[in-house]
Amino acid sequence: MNTLRGNQGPRYRHTPGEAAPYETIRVEKLTPIIGAEISGVDLAALSNQQFDEVHRALAENLVIFFRDQRLTPREHLDFGRRFGELHIHPAAPHEEGEPALMKIYADANSPRANGEGWHSDVSCDERPPMGSVLYIKQCPPHGGDTLFASMYAAWDALSDRMKTYLDGMIAVHDGEEVYRGTYANFGVQDRPSYPKAEHPVARTHPVTGRKALYVNRGFTRRLLGVPRDESDAVLRYLFEHAENPLFQCRFRWTENTVAFWDNRCAQHRAMWDYWPHTRSGNRVTILGERPV
Ligand code: SIN
Repeated sequence: MNTLRGNQGPRYRHTPGEAAPYETIRVEKLTPIIGAEISGVDLAALSNQQFDEVHRALAENLVIFFRDQRLTPREHLDFGRRFGELHIHPAAPHEEGEPALMKIYADANSPRANGEGWHSDVSCDERPPMGSVLYIKQCPPHGGDTLFASMYAAWDALSDRMKTYLDGMIAVHDGEEVYRGTYANFGVQDRPSYPKAEHPVARTHPVTGRKALYVNRGFTRRLLGVPRDESDAVLRYLFEHAENPLFQCRFRWTENTVAFWDNRCAQHRAMWDYWPHTRSGNRVTILGERPV
């Protein structure tokens, strides 16, 4: 049963604007709401106009994908740097000598894989990442997809009463439970503490000006200013609401593909359905601003 449908059609309606054509890249949408494949571009040699159009494609599609790329670690880092200062992950393993080049790796001996639950990257940081650039170089024969969900759509689909209730509310995001002990199989030692931050439940995107729901099952622990049981119940509702497949796209990787997502308005979830096979790559993460 589709619980969102009444006699007035779907509760969430996407109303696309009139987009200007792209001149230096090709953009093929995966869904009307989120995701697009970009072609006609070499990320190691972007012209300034291509860079502007890639930036615009990210703003319009929330997550964009580039197949058949050949990037050295340096070129991967440089691509990220064109969008801002790089973020250093507070816990995850990185390539030797390159703290901003995070390892994304799972094989037959892994106790877990990165990003298995819905989340926005490191939302427990005071300045959480604006975006993440994941370059997958080795894929399992099947599976290992990543799901992405639009938090603009999640916010827009809430009732006006719920929006009024949540507007101005602050939530606590905590990395402790997520990170402590998590990377022991990579030989990573735990830190004395992990980041914890307070962010608005609804944040305004600094580029598009649109409002996005900014709570996620991975890191958000508590709504401030309401009793604990109310906070638990409302968060449970919001997590479920945000995970509605209507707001999602699902990406099937091929080797040497890059995904670039905007953590300010999208959540993602990696599928670890490929054990005992190997999936491997690197992530470069771009520092963001304090959510407002
Ligand atoms: C992540 O959360 O960065 C991992 C995503 C993935 O491996 O697809």
